[in-house]
Amino acid sequence: MTRSLPALEIVETALPRPFPAQLPADARVLEFRPDVASMPRFFIWTLGCQMNRSDSEEMAGRLLAAGCCEAPGPEEADLVVINTCAIREAAEAKVIGRQGTLARLKAERPGTRVVLAGCAVRERDRAGLRRRYPAVDLFLRPDEEPELVARLGLASAQAAVGLGPRTAATTVVNRVEVSAADHLPAARAASVAAATLARSSSISAWLPIVYGCDKSCTYCIVPFSRGPERSRPFDEVVAEARALAAAGYREVTLLGQNVNSYGHDLPAEKRFAHVAEGRRVGRRIERTSRPDLAELIRAIDGLRGPDGAPAIPRLRFVTSHPWDLSDRLIAALAEAPSACEALHLPVQSGDDVILQRMGRQYGVAHYLGLVERVRAAVPGIAVSTDVIVGFCGETDGQYEATLRLLETVRFDQVFAAAYSPRPGTPASRLADDVPAAVKRDRLNRLLAVQERIGHERNQAWLGRTIEVLVDEAAPARPAAQVGVGEGQAPWRGPLPEGFVRLGGRTRHNKLVHLAGPADLVGALVEAQVEHAGPYSLRGSLVR
Ligand code: SAH
Ligand code: SF4
Ligand code: F3S
Repeated sequence: MTRSLPALEIVETALPRPFPAQLPADARVLEFRPDVASMPRFFIWTLGCQMNRSDSEEMAGRLLAAGCCEAPGPEEADLVVINTCAIREAAEAKVIGRQGTLARLKAERPGTRVVLAGCAVRERDRAGLRRRYPAVDLFLRPDEEPELVARLGLASAQAAVGLGPRTAATTVVNRVEVSAADHLPAARAASVAAATLARSSSISAWLPIVYGCDKSCTYCIVPFSRGPERSRPFDEVVAEARALAAAGYREVTLLGQNVNSYGHDLPAEKRFAHVAEGRRVGRRIERTSRPDLAELIRAIDGLRGPDGAPAIPRLRFVTSHPWDLSDRLIAALAEAPSACEALHLPVQSGDDVILQRMGRQYGVAHYLGLVERVRAAVPGIAVSTDVIVGFCGETDGQYEATLRLLETVRFDQVFAAAYSPRPGTPASRLADDVPAAVKRDRLNRLLAVQERIGHERNQAWLGRTIEVLVDEAAPARPAAQVGVGEGQAPWRGPLPEGFVRLGGRTRHNKLVHLAGPADLVGALVEAQVEHAGPYSLRGSLVR
């Protein structure tokens, strides 16, 4: 699966895939395009979360609009763009570890340029970048990415491809210089208007609605790399959703580090006078008369096709912070038919002292209350979460409390990681005193507990008929190999003639393996669940 959800899951891609080649909409203009061999070729390697993948779609679009074309791999590229993640040390180390290969590439093909973009480029660490990434020619913070084409001197007179050089700005948060993210909404709007986005799928689309993060979780680098929250104007988001519906997209995922704090920084307007609910926990913010995520979900859900059904059948949003999960949002989730029955709600720990040390500003009781309200409003909703084990000072007892929380909530999916100190974060001043071996052991035990719970929850789907959005086809493997494949539900017996292996997701965000004709990719199909593993289901098409 290339489009695993929910967002902010770190996807470790060993072999990056290029963007699908963009053909001009009108085939008659093909003959006027220069020979591909004469165009600069780029390759984008994207690490990190869905926001990064969305950012890469924008960068790829700008490069294509500037007359570049894609290379099948870094070896064939004149320009290598690495869109980095910094959430844990391992994510940064992965790119640092490729510097030798990149330097060799540049020696073999003089003129090759390497751009490092994304969350590893932070203003406060700018001085150290050249030392850590010696093979890189140009560094772009996430908010500087719209300048890519101009900074490389590639801007063409014909194409609106982004911002001119050095229009991004910084701001100071807690005495630290961070990117301001101010112009990102406008840069996105320009890409949408010029139709230059190189979306990586024609079935599911990312739709960023708020950039940056205003929280101050003590372990987290994101506020330093992405700056404070900046919401996109309401009408621009709805317009982009309308364009996606017209283009036939079946699924849209609204993206933000804290997607449910959307709108608090937008100007108050009369038409949103009914929006008033504030936060129950966390810092107070003024929400009155500003659009919120609930309003946005209802507006996008309200885009209807000729049959009266939602024009975009599936609407998702990630990631939600427990501060901002309002009753208005829960009601929208329950009442908007297109809003999928899945909620990603990171909890991080099952112990109040650890949560306080993490700066999460809620306790376990508040979190459990939220899950209860959500489940009462949307029966059967799939709830997933993120957990950090081995945070500073975490005792065995505090860790066990997290295991108990998993047993109490019975999540459908848990993304867990061992704590990794990040430079400049408040927690980096605390002792990272849980030994690596203990972190590893805690992580493994937690994953085993969740594997059992996830398996049990998936087994509840056995025999039921479910709607699957097919988004992937894999060629049939030889019969002898059928049933092989790490992490995949075993496939018994050879595939029927003309069938291929298909992959897709249910509204509850369950991964489903199917067999069927390849032309079902992009279709919403009915399937009966025949097998349930801990991480996926296997079904057969219902005719
Ligand atoms: N904005 C989202 C999460 C973004 S980061 C939220 O607050 O829920 C995705 C996940 O990475 C986090 O939920 C957290 O579990 C994990 N993470 C963040 N910083 C980390 C660190 N320093 N070490 C280990 N995991 C971390
Ligand atoms: Fe990081 Fe916390 Fe912001 Fe999530 S809410 S991005 S964990 S600071
Ligand atoms: Fe995403 Fe990694 Fe940045 S998780 S926000 S790419 S640090």
